[in-house]
Amino acid sequence: MTTSTLQNLPPHDDEATRAADQALRDHAGQAGEWHLADLFADDPNRFDTLSLHAGGVLADFSKQRLTAETLEKLRALAGARGLDAWIRCLFEGGEVNWTEGRAAMHWRLRQPARDDGEQDPVQAQLLRMERIVKRILSGQWRGCEGDAITDVVNVGVGGSDLGPLMASVALHENQPPEGRRPRVHFVSSMDGSQIAPLLDELNPATTLIVVSSKSFTTVDTLSNAATARYWLEKAFPDRNGAVLRCHFVGISAKPERMSEWGIHGDNQLLFWDWVGGRYSLWSAIGLPIALTIGMDGFRELLAGANEMDRHFQDAPWERNLPVLLGLVDVWNLNFLNITARAVLPYDGRLKHWPSYVEQLEMESNGKSVDRDGQLVDYHTCPVIWGEVGPNAQHAFYQLLHQGTRPVACEFIAAARHGRRQGSSAELQPLEEQHILTLANCLAQSRLLALGDRALAEDDDTPTYKRYRGNQPSTTLLLDELTPRHLGALVALYEHKVFVQAVLWGINPFDQWGVEMGKKIATDMIQVLGNGDGGDGLDASTRALARYVRERQA
Ligand code: F6P
Repeated sequence: MTTSTLQNLPPHDDEATRAADQALRDHAGQAGEWHLADLFADDPNRFDTLSLHAGGVLADFSKQRLTAETLEKLRALAGARGLDAWIRCLFEGGEVNWTEGRAAMHWRLRQPARDDGEQDPVQAQLLRMERIVKRILSGQWRGCEGDAITDVVNVGVGGSDLGPLMASVALHENQPPEGRRPRVHFVSSMDGSQIAPLLDELNPATTLIVVSSKSFTTVDTLSNAATARYWLEKAFPDRNGAVLRCHFVGISAKPERMSEWGIHGDNQLLFWDWVGGRYSLWSAIGLPIALTIGMDGFRELLAGANEMDRHFQDAPWERNLPVLLGLVDVWNLNFLNITARAVLPYDGRLKHWPSYVEQLEMESNGKSVDRDGQLVDYHTCPVIWGEVGPNAQHAFYQLLHQGTRPVACEFIAAARHGRRQGSSAELQPLEEQHILTLANCLAQSRLLALGDRALAEDDDTPTYKRYRGNQPSTTLLLDELTPRHLGALVALYEHKVFVQAVLWGINPFDQWGVEMGKKIATDMIQVLGNGDGGDGLDASTRALARYVRERQA
């Protein structure tokens, strides 16, 4: 690894940036008049020029309000912002996270093993993780009463929850070839509403708790972990250390804090400061994924992401999927002034994809201060929300079709379902349901793009039945929802977030905006308890705290 630093980066070429920006603004002036129906009528080859396949993912940008000329101008802006040097800096381990003075090397976690095997700390942790996975799947890992593990509870929040949750659910149909997998549960919410009913269902003798926290200080996670520990120690009052040794695994970048909490040294899996929380599913934080699909499956996930890493570094920008996905978002937000984006998976297996993407993008790029400490005078991350597409059709599509504001939509689906053999998975009607879902996906993106002109409605149709169309969208089709292709998809999003951050001049790897809330919540506990510290509060918070206290009494 070289010691590339930000000083090695060429400064932004401000003049070139201004020129590229102005060219895009002028171009957007014309684009404001475009309707997607006309763009398709004018250029029958639109799909061929504006779609791309890499890493098992087909991306169709042809339903975006842009042309090949737009992309050329966006690439000029990326060039002026020094994107190529930034990409090199990322992969050389430079301090791209400059406010915390460190690199962002999640890509390191998915590099293939080098010959030195165990010497490499990344591979060493992967092997430790593999040993734990094998012991659980084979039934060798025993609870303190000698029972095999049937249930694993991942206790974590944010990046220590959303990535493993999203991928475990998405890939659940991929049974590990070896052993018998446990049921894997996820608990994140600090209010106990998830863990309480779960513990009612579980047998403590056969339950393993995985405490996942990079910092091992997050109160949400530690409060749920303490409840789980209380539950287990109450179930086995005479077994002291055996409860901790047999029923708890810890995953963190802070081994000393895990030890202090009571996690046995043999049950600690480590990752590093240079892996951001929301970029950590590739590390031991991915343990629930490996328990769901097996270690070979987990390695496939890593391989798919590594393929996307190489594509991102090597492909020319005209054919570079993360670069294009990032540029299209910048076009929509900064030049067409489309400030919202809907993430719409047409596959229930991807039901946690929207929440995962919400954290990845909004925690990374919800920033307004640039590298020089100056406030930026343009929008950065759009507001992102989403839902499984077919359900969203019956919830908020009305707004997409006939509301007043433009929303950029992102459709994601698997071209082939690829059902595994056995049980209900082979039922013929399920194949038909997959086609039905894809039909809805394609129909919706078409109607959103073309509006009435998709249907050749006559002019007498009342206005309340009309569809304006011109709502832009990208469609991403995975060849199949395999571990490999999901790995590529996640890496694609990670890199496109980086591309956008470079264009916006912000740091996508810190999250200072969530720190203060954590601190003042701690102070508030006392205010709610006995009122101490309430005097300095604003009138609203003081009155609400008093209202709560009165009803607790
Ligand atoms: O929400 C802030 C945050 O720091 C996220 O970035 C992170 O993924 C989450 O909290 C959990 O943090 P930890 O893994 O340290 O418990």
